[in-house]
Amino acid sequence: MLMIQDIVQLRALIRQWRNAGERIAFVPTMGNLHQGHLQLVDTAKQRADRVIVSIFVNPMQFGANEDLDKYPRTLEQDCKGLTEHGADAVFTPTPAIIYPRGLDVQTYVEVPLLGDHHCGASRAGHFRGVSTIVTKLFNLVQPDIACFGQKDYQQLAIIRQMVADLSMPIEIIGVPTTRAEDGLALSSRNGYLTAEQRAIAPDLYSVLQWMKQQLHQGFSDFRALEQQAKDKLNAAGFKADYMNISNRQTLVPATDSSQPLVILAAAYLGNTRLIDNIEV
Ligand code: PAF
Repeated sequence: MLMIQDIVQLRALIRQWRNAGERIAFVPTMGNLHQGHLQLVDTAKQRADRVIVSIFVNPMQFGANEDLDKYPRTLEQDCKGLTEHGADAVFTPTPAIIYPRGLDVQTYVEVPLLGDHHCGASRAGHFRGVSTIVTKLFNLVQPDIACFGQKDYQQLAIIRQMVADLSMPIEIIGVPTTRAEDGLALSSRNGYLTAEQRAIAPDLYSVLQWMKQQLHQGFSDFRALEQQAKDKLNAAGFKADYMNISNRQTLVPATDSSQPLVILAAAYLGNTRLIDNIEV
């Protein structure tokens, strides 16, 4: 597997692949790769001739009090996994390569409306950071397809909208969430959990499944159901951030089930913020 940090080298490689008529799949990540990321790589491999992965802990999508500094960086182990899963190249730029003029004066991309609720409401500026870095990476890699996990449901919706709005010729593939045997959605942030918190963590998905069941049984007061779900989480030891029954297309909190629904959830265990979702 080729390791590339430099933009000139990256563009030369992409040109070489393009000249050979090869289809390119891209998997953007922030590293500390787990089975969920490797599942994205496997999906990418099935759909293209070449797979390139980026590893970049993007400072622009972290808030001032968030975990940018302690975000796990495990490049050697990541490269081992990527090689085993047949990635052709990994792009590992530094912040200075991506944001040479600094973050304060960086041109940004912001998708309206879809980021108004859920993580967008709790993490000001987060989705602006995500849309901007994904645009930059798309411009550098110029892939035919790009794979993203459905665990980050709101992020995936925003990227799909951005690609459509900005006429980017890239097919976006959403890959189902990979879960541990006990149901916990795999996430790099799970590594922050103590043994005690890790034992409680699967309750987030259990509560989502319980909500889905309630909706299927006809429970129709969505706000009351959200509150009950938060109470359950808080009683289990979480600090619930949001549990939102929303329209799957617009991501606006829904009041009835006339449209397909998704339940989006975020909750803290100690300082660790976990997110998950379930389609209804
Ligand atoms: O989902 C992530 O890991 C990040 O938000 C992404 C898409 C790689 C952008 O930094």
